[in-house]
Amino acid sequence: MKTTAQLKKMKKDREPIAMLTAYDAPSAHLAERAGVDLILVGDSLGMVVLGYNSTIPVTVDDMVLHTKAVKKGARDTFVVTDLPFFSYHGDFPETSSHVRRYLQEAGADAVKMEGGIETVDTVKKLVQAGVPVMGHLGLTPQSVGVIGGYKVQGKESSEAEHLIMEAQALEEAGAFAVVLECVPKQLGALVAERLDIPVIGIGAGAETDGQVLVYHDVIGYGSEHVPKFVKQYANISPHIEAGLENYVSDVKSRTFPEEANTFTMKEEQLEGLYG
Ligand code: KIV
Ligand code: NA
Repeated sequence: MKTTAQLKKMKKDREPIAMLTAYDAPSAHLAERAGVDLILVGDSLGMVVLGYNSTIPVTVDDMVLHTKAVKKGARDTFVVTDLPFFSYHGDFPETSSHVRRYLQEAGADAVKMEGGIETVDTVKKLVQAGVPVMGHLGLTPQSVGVIGGYKVQGKESSEAEHLIMEAQALEEAGAFAVVLECVPKQLGALVAERLDIPVIGIGAGAETDGQVLVYHDVIGYGSEHVPKFVKQYANISPHIEAGLENYVSDVKSRTFPEEANTFTMKEEQLEGLYG
């Protein structure tokens, strides 16, 4: 399992960090076998698994349950769990009670939270308490209502400058890494250059210290709308669909179950049964 120190060294050595989301044990197991450095139990859970049309409805309980499953499937991978909408903006005892559940009950290795300056104080306190924290800047989907849609952030120099300042503030607060979502590639490169901690991009170009994508997007599973920054490495939905259709058709035609799928009672027991 990677440590936060190893991740920082990977950045220094210019070895790209591969992060992927997972939400359950089998997906986490396959992610681990594929050699990902980090698994993110993202609150994208709400959209790709729970069927919501944003991440807003996702709860701390949802994240705890799915983190448990992920950790069971990938015991040897560093797991980061998202704090969901409005779960880290109250007083610190409330935030820390969620984080305690993540680490003690669910087995997460770190937490991630969206936002810049407004989160710095919380990041600092969590790090002081021994919790590894990952930041998340650029497009922050929990603020979709304020942002006004899922769109590229930091296109203007003043906005970009502000984002760089916030990234630096998160680093100073003790964050061990930052996710940077949906920004121009030049800004991705610049933030990675300005920080000592790894910058993990999603739609932030090729010059960040690592990349993160959503599991279902990578394998083409159920995702209807695929953002520009996604590359699909497989398209498994048609395979699943074909398998399920064959199953239904075999049941309807009594082709399934076959002899090989069937249990048999001994002949003499059968005679006893008929009397
Ligand atoms: O929830 C999520 O999957 C994320 C990544 C896309 C960074 O936050
Ligand atoms: Na997220």
